[in-house]
Amino acid sequence: MKVAIFASGNGSNFEAIAQSEELKQAGLEIEVLVCDQPKAHVIKRAEKYHIPVFVNRLADFANRSDYEQAIIDKLKPLGIEYILLAGYMKVVTTTLLSAYPNHIINIHPSLLPKYSGLEAIERAYEANDRVTGVTIHYIDEGVDTGPIIKQCKVVRLRNDTEDSLEQRIHQTEHQMYVEVIHDLLNKNNGVGK
Ligand code: GAR
Repeated sequence: MKVAIFASGNGSNFEAIAQSEELKQAGLEIEVLVCDQPKAHVIKRAEKYHIPVFVNRLADFANRSDYEQAIIDKLKPLGIEYILLAGYMKVVTTTLLSAYPNHIINIHPSLLPKYSGLEAIERAYEANDRVTGVTIHYIDEGVDTGPIIKQCKVVRLRNDTEDSLEQRIHQTEHQMYVEVIHDLLNKNNGVGK
């Protein structure tokens, strides 16, 4: 199964997927990292795993549709079947959605629909929520909306700082994303039919 991963920043989720031997053996092929930020740390991570990088900046295009069309023009010849958003901080519009209907997956660090958008972990921490979590979902045109694939809770401990809570949320994300992709690979390979 050929995928493209989209990311804008640090790339810890990207790396969790890229380093998974289990996913590689199950047939995952990361054909390209698509990144909208030329200086993002995720680019260094991709180089470490010899994964090609496509840097594409919105500022270089007249509008969002042209920006996304340039991505489609890159992905289609590569035979990409799924797009995995991993900290990609741009709203996806109809141009890309209609090129990959029901084949774009996102991860978000909250129990959606709570805290969609930016700074989800910080907002849950500041609200003193006893339970927060992670959501993986197919996307639609909204911000962090669309059919949910999997949600996991992360409980806030009594002595948690925002940093320690964030760390546990990221650990949960990394495990969850690998599991969800593994299930998807099994489904595509006909396992469990
Ligand atoms: C992750 O927490 C991911 O869930 C979040 O960005 C972070 C990226 O971390 N995504 C969103 O908030 C999407 N709305 P990473 O670059 O270390 O993978």
